[in-house]
Formats: sequence, structure tokens, C-alpha cells
Amino acid sequence: MKIEQFEMERMQSTWENLVEMDMSESGVRPVSLREMAEMGLDLDGILNMPLGYSQSNGTIALRETLALQYPGATAGHIEVTNGTSEANYVLALALLRPGDHVAFQVPNYMQYGGIPPSLGATVDRFSLCLDRDWEPDWEEFDRAVTPQTRLVYVSNPNNPTGSILSLEAMRRMVARCEQVGAYLLADEVYLGAEIHCPRTPSFWGMSDRVIVTSGLSKAYGIPGVRIGWIAGPPSVVAECWSQHDYLTIGPNKISDAVARVAAMPENREKLYARTRGILQHNLPIVREWVESFGGFLAFREPQAGALCLVRYGSPMPSYELCERIRVNRSVLVVPGIHLGVEGYVRLWLGGRPEFLKEGLRRVGAELSSL
Ligand SMILES: Cc1ncc(COP(=O)(O)O)c(C=O)c1O
Repeated sequence: MKIEQFEMERMQSTWENLVEMDMSESGVRPVSLREMAEMGLDLDGILNMPLGYSQSNGTIALRETLALQYPGATAGHIEVTNGTSEANYVLALALLRPGDHVAFQVPNYMQYGGIPPSLGATVDRFSLCLDRDWEPDWEEFDRAVTPQTRLVYVSNPNNPTGSILSLEAMRRMVARCEQVGAYLLADEVYLGAEIHCPRTPSFWGMSDRVIVTSGLSKAYGIPGVRIGWIAGPPSVVAECWSQHDYLTIGPNKISDAVARVAAMPENREKLYARTRGILQHNLPIVREWVESFGGFLAFREPQAGALCLVRYGSPMPSYELCERIRVNRSVLVVPGIHLGVEGYVRLWLGGRPEFLKEGLRRVGAELSSL
């Protein structure tokens, strides 16, 4: 199986530990083990834990806790994976066959730009439009979602725009999937990271064609334990488990224990509140910085998540611009082209305020030289 390089992930892995300022991040500054202990994680129990295999699809206790957030779901609707990325991957392995089509929202986290073609499937893109407050281009959507479409992938809230689909847009997408017989894969890893607006509604329960993936990396602020999950119809989840058996067998035992604490409803709310506090504090810093450029930069304030996508008024390709920023200012930011759109850069707003201000100052100095 030949797979194209995941450009953004590779750029990050290559440079994030070598630059002075990594602003290619996409989550809030992570939660520590001590903070997890304060929420009830039994650290002493972990010290005594035999490091054997854990249950390969996630312990029953973890799956039951995760199921609480999906009305009507049971442990049988849940598969625990190594991060949301593995959840998305095993779903593709389970569902896609050569000749299938996948409709893919852009800009986006580009996993589904690369995986379907490696499995012989075709990707049909549809856009979110900055000038329409990141609403989907519905003509493109209707062209992309046809009876040949096996799966539609959206991230909601969206990486990188921080936008959230309206309920009306969600209903329209689900109705179209039902009409053509496609699955709707809603990657909801940013659900719970709303900055000022109410909680993002989940696609869960809107149709039996809906499959949700999520994980601890973004809204919970715990990327390092690498826990994600799939919530879907039990038959699809069973297929995913079969794929998972071949891939990594299952998540690690310490991570499952951490996740059991993080996913408890009261702790989940505490973690979401921590994330919201960080983002509410940082958003004005980014807003003020963008405004200082007058019309040269255009953006819609993110509604959720630790990132925003900014359009710049220069013909310079985004990769070249980000390379200049990295080489001249030792700051790593993500070029739009690595997110499926040209003429944009993705900025991070999840770090400490001083870090953010200095990073933006350096990015701004390079932009001013254009
Ligand atoms: C939309 C989306 N899905 C999945 C992932 C990967 O998440 P995880 O760290 O849980 O594997 C990311 C990471 O940036 C993301 O933005």
C-alpha cells in the first residue's frame, strides 16, 4: 500500500523540536499527571499496576463511561483507539474499498486527504468559505456527495478554522448522506473546546448513518496518553475492532486508566472549562494582533479550538511564507496548503500568553516584510 506523505505531520515532526517557538500546535497546553491525580487518578495504583496488555477495544469501564456522552449508546457502540487519528484510520480500513468515493470537507486536518487514495478510493472535496463565515459551499457539497459516496468526513468544530456547523447545516448533511446511502464520519475531537458559544451539538443520534470519532487530545487537553474512540453502529464498531486487532491490538493500559478518570462526566466538564479558560484569555491577543494589520489579514474568530486560520493579502505561496517565518524567525506555523487551502496560515492560540505574544510578534515581523 503506497500512501502519500502527510505533509503537515511531517513538517511538524521535522521542525517542532528544533525551532525556538512551535506555533504549529493545535491543542491547549497539556494537563499534567498531577492534575489528573487531583481529579481522582490513583497514582499509587498505577505504580503497582502490572504492565500487561489491556483490553484491546478498551476496558468495559472506559467504554461504558464514554458511552454516557452519546445518548442511547452502550459499551458495544464504542471502540477505544490510540488517538482520534487511529480511530479515523481503522474506520477507513473497515469501510473503504477500491472504487469508493469519499467526500472531504476542506480546509481540514488532512488525514482523509491521504488515507482513502491509499486504499483505492477517490476523494471529492467540498469547501468551507471564509466569506460566508465558514459555511459549506453547498453546490460543491451536493456535487461531492453522490450515490458513489461511501463516506463523508467532516471535523466539527473544524480544524483549522475553529468554525462550528449550524444545526441546519448538520441536518442538511445528514439528510444528504441518508439520501445517497453514505456514512457521515464526524470527527468531534474539538467538541467541548468552545470559546464563548454553547456546547457544539454532536452528530451522534441524528441518523444510523452517523459515526463519531473523538479523543482526549484537544478539548480535554491530554494528547500524550493517545486515547481516542469511535462511537458508531455496533456492526461498524465490530469491523473496526477486527482491523484494530491487526494494527496495534489496543490502547495501552496506563492510558486506559487515565482516560477512565478524564472521561467521567464531572471531570470532563472540568477539563473543558480549563480549555475554555485558556482560550478565552488568549483569543483577544490574537484578535488585536490580526486587527493591527488592517485589511492585510482576514479571519473569522474561531468559535472553538486552539487555532485560527488567517488569510493574508500576498500572492506568496503559504509554504514559502511559513518557511521564511521558520528560517528567519525560528517560529513554526502551518501553511494553508497543508490544510487543503492556499493563501492562509494557521495560528495557534493554546499556549501561555507571553509565548503567544512573542510568537505573533515574530510572525508579524515577517509578514510586514512582504
Ligand atoms: C480534526 C482532527 N482529528 C484528529 C486529530 C488527531 O488527534 P489525536 O491526537 O487524537 O490522534 C487531529 C489533530 O490535530 C485533528 O485536528
